[in-house]
Amino acid sequence: MTTWNLQETRCHLLICNGGSCMRRQADEVTQAIRDEIKVLGADKQIHTTRTRCNGRCEDACVVIVYPDGVWYKDITPELGRLLVRMHLSGERLEENIVYSYDQSFIASGRSVTGTDKLSC
Ligand code: FES
Repeated sequence: MTTWNLQETRCHLLICNGGSCMRRQADEVTQAIRDEIKVLGADKQIHTTRTRCNGRCEDACVVIVYPDGVWYKDITPELGRLLVRMHLSGERLEENIVYSYDQSFIASGRSVTGTDKLSC
């Protein structure tokens, strides 16, 4: 049985709840984002999912937004609330973007490069 009807969903937030992000307020970020969505009455427009580690622990707390393909770093509860408001109005939290998507991921240069997957 399907739990959620996603037909009106415009935005899916993946909130990292891996160990490194949890040590940097991931639970509070998750609650703040979900609270802001509720306050704004945007439950149908924005869906959230807690994830495990997304492989960018240096950037904790990480939040990823689809279908935009934007990866954010250093998200605090306050920034999480702002992120919800900005994405609802078609904007982005530019200062915290690590990667954005346009046919492939484009690094913003705001974080460490990291290692290639093949070398892990
Ligand atoms: S725990 Fe969040 S990116 Fe690793």
